[in-house]
Amino acid sequence: MRTLNQLQDLTGCWALITGGAGHIGKMACQTLLEQGASVILLDRHHDALVAAKESFSLSNHQKVEVIDCDLAQESAIRAAIKSVAEITSGQLHIVINNAAFVGTDKLTGWCVPFEQQSFETFNACLDVNLSAPFLISQLCLPLLKAHDHAVKSVINISSIYGVVGPQMVMYEGTDMGNPAAYAASKAGLMQLTKWMACTVAPSVRVNNIVLGGVFRGQDPAFLEKYHQRVPLGRMAIEEDVKGAIAYLSSQLSNYMTGQSLILDGGWTVH
Ligand SMILES: NC(=O)c1ccc[n+]([C@@H]2O[C@H](COP(=O)([O-])OP(=O)(O)OC[C@H]3O[C@@H](n4cnc5c(N)ncnc54)[C@H](O)[C@@H]3O)[C@@H](O)[C@H]2O)c1
Repeated sequence: MRTLNQLQDLTGCWALITGGAGHIGKMACQTLLEQGASVILLDRHHDALVAAKESFSLSNHQKVEVIDCDLAQESAIRAAIKSVAEITSGQLHIVINNAAFVGTDKLTGWCVPFEQQSFETFNACLDVNLSAPFLISQLCLPLLKAHDHAVKSVINISSIYGVVGPQMVMYEGTDMGNPAAYAASKAGLMQLTKWMACTVAPSVRVNNIVLGGVFRGQDPAFLEKYHQRVPLGRMAIEEDVKGAIAYLSSQLSNYMTGQSLILDGGWTVH
């Protein structure tokens, strides 16, 4: 039987992380680097990508590469995955579909009452949060299957709001909100996880992380209500997600596919 260290080891593996310049993307990159992998960060913010790349310290033979890509554009996604194939010599091991329109984005008709939510923004959110993971996973499949390494893992990043409905009272008196499109896209991503898992098995595994709210200095009024509502009494911090990334990426989770790992401090328990 192999040791835990052997099972978590990703030496020689390549991972692609979308939204790689964001909070969770950078944490996932740091985690995979600690496990020995090399990482491609994809995002639409060039300067943030470069800054992220420069923030990591690498061991021998490890690399962090960056790709500028707006996931709202199909042609940009296709070009980006061609770049992934060139960087990795056609052999990819891990895909993390993490980029998303999130609740703090300043978009037209987004964090506003239902009656004011924009149909155009609803569709744009589905494009980035759901259609892009579909296309990226589809285009990366040949790269995941192109090698004999046992690590072939897709991880989707979903949300508690893809599982349960919102509590709008949380947002009263703040500029935060909980748009319908976000919830629908994250629920769709969970089901896409199950569908893909059945379709690409047994060679490739596909799993999902259902994440609760992450602390980012939110409005104190919001924080107070959130802390009261969640059994563990606090929001998540990035570090809370490292174990899930390490587990689902590597051979530690070899017998798990199509599932969701729920990291929410107990939010969805009651
Ligand atoms: N922060 C939370 O409280 C929370 C809770 C549950 C789930 N999540 C999920 O975690 C994931 C990461 O969120 P985060 O908290 O790191 O947010 P973040 O805003 O820090 O990161 C999101 C990244 O996605 C990128 N992105 C957005 N649209 C893009 C596009 N069209 N093309 C390319 N890149 C694009 C952004 O530039 C950003 O770098 C998301 O899927 C989010 O839904 C976050």
